[in-house]
Amino acid sequence: MMKESTEFYTCLIKNRLSGERFKHSIKTAEMCRELAEKHGYDPKKAYLAGILHDICKEESEKELKRLIFSEPLYQSPMKLGIGDSAVCGLDPLEKEIPKLWHAPAGAVYVREKLEVDDTELISAIRFHTVGRENMSKLEKILYLGDLVERSRDYPEVEKYREYALLDLNHGMYEALKWTINDCLQRKKQISLYTYEAYNYYLKKG
Ligand SMILES: [Fe+2]
Ligand SMILES: [Fe+2]
Repeated sequence: MMKESTEFYTCLIKNRLSGERFKHSIKTAEMCRELAEKHGYDPKKAYLAGILHDICKEESEKELKRLIFSEPLYQSPMKLGIGDSAVCGLDPLEKEIPKLWHAPAGAVYVREKLEVDDTELISAIRFHTVGRENMSKLEKILYLGDLVERSRDYPEVEKYREYALLDLNHGMYEALKWTINDCLQRKKQISLYTYEAYNYYLKKG
């Protein structure tokens, strides 16, 4: 499955990221491991997803563009590939907003450059910023682990951490509600994946 050890990947991201972002990656990994232990998932794999999730966060726009626009599936309509691939087409907002590029680019980087062939891990990285409907357990663990890791200090983070530790689906619902609310407040556009995820977890969570 993984070509290298957790220590190898930790060292790799330490060299690729600033001190602050490296710390955030370790904290996310620890939170993912905690969520995995709580919800019956492989803690080692969850930890690794946390370590790798922001691997392309400090990459140049040019390189991010190269990574995502060279991936044929990202140029397909969104959702093409669900079930048989770890990557799905970019939605219109993902194509437009560079801030969203590090997640799909990270998925391609991990698959191509690190030769990781674990589709669960790759799709968790791909969807860690926008989410989607009907997420895998690892996708939910990473999405939530990133949001509620223990060095985050936005108001009421403890409440969202509690939700995530109690129930992943309800945790997703609360997190998506918060995210969409935040987009409305700050007059930001909402990704179609996020919108679909909200509708899905509203019923499910
Ligand atoms: Fe990220
Ligand atoms: Fe992150």
